[in-house]
Amino acid sequence: MEKVQSYIQDNKQKFLDELLDLLRIPSVSADPKYKEDVLKTADFVANSLKEAGADNVEICPTAGYPIVYGEKIIDPSLPTVLVYGHYDVQPPDPMELWESGPFEPVIKKTKLHPDGAIFARGACDDKGQAYMHVKAFEAMIKSDSLPCNVKFMIEGEEEVGSDNLGIFCKENTEKLSCDVVLISDTSIIANDVPSITVGLRGLSYVEVEVVGPNRDLHSGVYGGAVANPINVLSKMIASLQDENNHITIPGFYDDVLEVSAEDRKKMNEAPHSEEQYKEDLDIAATQGEAGFTTIERASIRPTLDVNGIWGGYIGEGAKTVLPSKANAKISMRLVPNQDSHTITELFQKHFESIAPDSVKVTVKPHHGGEPVVTPTDTPEYQAAAKAMEKTFGKKPIPTREGGSIPIVALFEDVLGVKSVLMGFGLNSDAIHSPNEHYGLFNYYKGIETIPYFYQYYAELKK
Ligand code: BES
Ligand code: MN
Ligand code: MN
Repeated sequence: MEKVQSYIQDNKQKFLDELLDLLRIPSVSADPKYKEDVLKTADFVANSLKEAGADNVEICPTAGYPIVYGEKIIDPSLPTVLVYGHYDVQPPDPMELWESGPFEPVIKKTKLHPDGAIFARGACDDKGQAYMHVKAFEAMIKSDSLPCNVKFMIEGEEEVGSDNLGIFCKENTEKLSCDVVLISDTSIIANDVPSITVGLRGLSYVEVEVVGPNRDLHSGVYGGAVANPINVLSKMIASLQDENNHITIPGFYDDVLEVSAEDRKKMNEAPHSEEQYKEDLDIAATQGEAGFTTIERASIRPTLDVNGIWGGYIGEGAKTVLPSKANAKISMRLVPNQDSHTITELFQKHFESIAPDSVKVTVKPHHGGEPVVTPTDTPEYQAAAKAMEKTFGKKPIPTREGGSIPIVALFEDVLGVKSVLMGFGLNSDAIHSPNEHYGLFNYYKGIETIPYFYQYYAELKK
């Protein structure tokens, strides 16, 4: 291990320069105008794996963006770790809020990252975190100390729902056979408070359209006599939560697994300052479901949020118009044992049922995903905990997080294996937002920690 760690120390600048090159390629999976760049990113990742020492590196085509695969099988009798990550990123919009170009990485110091952080789209989610695994692997290979088998699967469609990865997994169960999936695509509580993610929320995502009159109308001539789709949509959306911020869709909570009082107590002992939280976001008050704390609201409780809403006139000045239609994108975060398909159906039925006769409503489902909770009494959790304790000097805290990685539930169903969610980002790293960044401390800490995971995992599986 000494050799591995000194290889890392000796190559810090190289590891950083390479990541910056990776971040310069705008691999936005949602927007077809970046198609060539997304493909270029797959090439970059494949080459990195080859140079690091992986065998059988392949750029596996799919109906969408390719999946990069590579492996190092040193002894079939040893355990196999499957590393999963994604090389695609979220769109950079709104562009005008970036202080530097989203694909022109720069390093700047911040309050939480006094050693500097890399500012770029994908720095934290997930290029920076996925690349830590390639570099940790390189360090183990170059110092001849890989203690078990590794397979890499880095996809390019996580931010658009991983549909093709699901198919790929089903068609390649043999190739992907492994003992555990290792993922860095989540957060730690703080740089001095390590944590391991033991739960993720699921997701049901729908788009709704409310159509009123067959054309835009003069809001004076017709206003008051004809339903305004924006007014109607606003009322419908407002009715989806009651005064306790409880979701009103019948059956919505039926399958929610209530967390025990003991587990809730434990989860609320994790360091959290409500004052700091509000200050960071510049809000005077938090809000959420009555009877639950901020930590609980953002992890063990389901939610309903409007992600976008549009319609009518939004140009300069005033235009008096009663619009013909209004639209919204709505996401629901789900917890065990809610099922995304069931929830989407319940939403659809309810939303259609509350529409007044004056409008027509359609609900279009988008991608979804299932929630997961992972156990802590497994060799993989123990190995991750030991590895973090070694490099942070503190035992990590198990936490449930609010975000979603739908493929994790699929790994359980299709490959029959659990995942370890050993991420190194901070919730304040602005993933999906302008000025996304990733701490240098976090990048290097990840690279240093991962080899310990392999070592302890190989030992614990003996
Ligand atoms: N890495 C995130 C998920 C995440 C972030 C989990 C922080 C825990 C903490 C992932 O890339 C992501 O953004 N997932 C999407 C879902 C996907 C279907 C678009 C999400 O959570 O919105
Ligand atoms: Mn991610
Ligand atoms: Mn993401």
